[in-house]
Amino acid sequence: MSSYLFPLLIVVLAIFIISRDGKKDEDKKGEEIVKNSAEEEEERVFTAEELSVYDGNRSTRIYLAVLGEVYDVTDGEGYYGPGQGYSCFAGRDGSRAFVTGNFTKEGARADLDGLTPGEVAGVIHWRDFYRKEDKYKYLGKLVGLYYDENGNAREEIHESIERRLAEHQQIQDNKKKLEARFPKCSSKWTQKTGKMLWCEDNRVPRNFTDSYGSRSRCACIQLGEEIEDSVGTFTQYGNCPPDESKCHL
Ligand code: HEM
Repeated sequence: MSSYLFPLLIVVLAIFIISRDGKKDEDKKGEEIVKNSAEEEEERVFTAEELSVYDGNRSTRIYLAVLGEVYDVTDGEGYYGPGQGYSCFAGRDGSRAFVTGNFTKEGARADLDGLTPGEVAGVIHWRDFYRKEDKYKYLGKLVGLYYDENGNAREEIHESIERRLAEHQQIQDNKKKLEARFPKCSSKWTQKTGKMLWCEDNRVPRNFTDSYGSRSRCACIQLGEEIEDSVGTFTQYGNCPPDESKCHL
């Protein structure tokens, strides 16, 4: 009897220990959630004037805003500190300069007026960088173009950004479709032959510029294929017979 009672006791004990540890983990997760929400509650709303103090000159800490979200970037002092390459972002919302590269005081502005959908996506990329970067702490909202005095989002401008992002996504999808429909040519350069371009599957090479203003590239098209004007322009390469699938440029 006692010979199988002992292993049974060990099993029961093991189950007890495992379930107790699991409970501890759950409690820990719970603690983290509480801590996070407590941090969220501490979210501040900055005026432009308040934020401007944190430029690394008037304060030891450096804050910046992107699309109205304020981050503590003191750990990136080598980038944002006085006299450093990205100091124009310190103490302000310089969202626009993240894609224009205009790092002057006039260039480091919050608005994205007139930027292309691709450039708007570029600013979002940097906003997401600050959101994800562990060394930078999210502090709150900046009163201005993107948030009101209570830190609430100004819907109209956020919707406009969403629309332009969706447009960017649509353009990217269309470009992908064009790449599948008009595959890239193969190419080779040797000193003896110079540059060669060619296509497989009875296709022929053409210099293609899409209607989105992308850099022109060599595209393989089917001879006689009907292509809508809205796709872009296709031109023959000099020295290249129109119906040849291989070209020496
Ligand atoms: C529109 C132009 C540009 C913008 C807005 C920009 C912005 C930035 C930002 C925000 C960072 C992150 C700094 C951080 O960790 O907090 C960064 C990093 C960096 N940038 Fe730029 N940059 C631009 C152009 C350039 C150019 C032209 C070069 C080089 C010739 C360059 C070289 C670097 C390097 C080496 C890093 C550090 C990357 C790393 O730590 O992994 N950037 N840039």
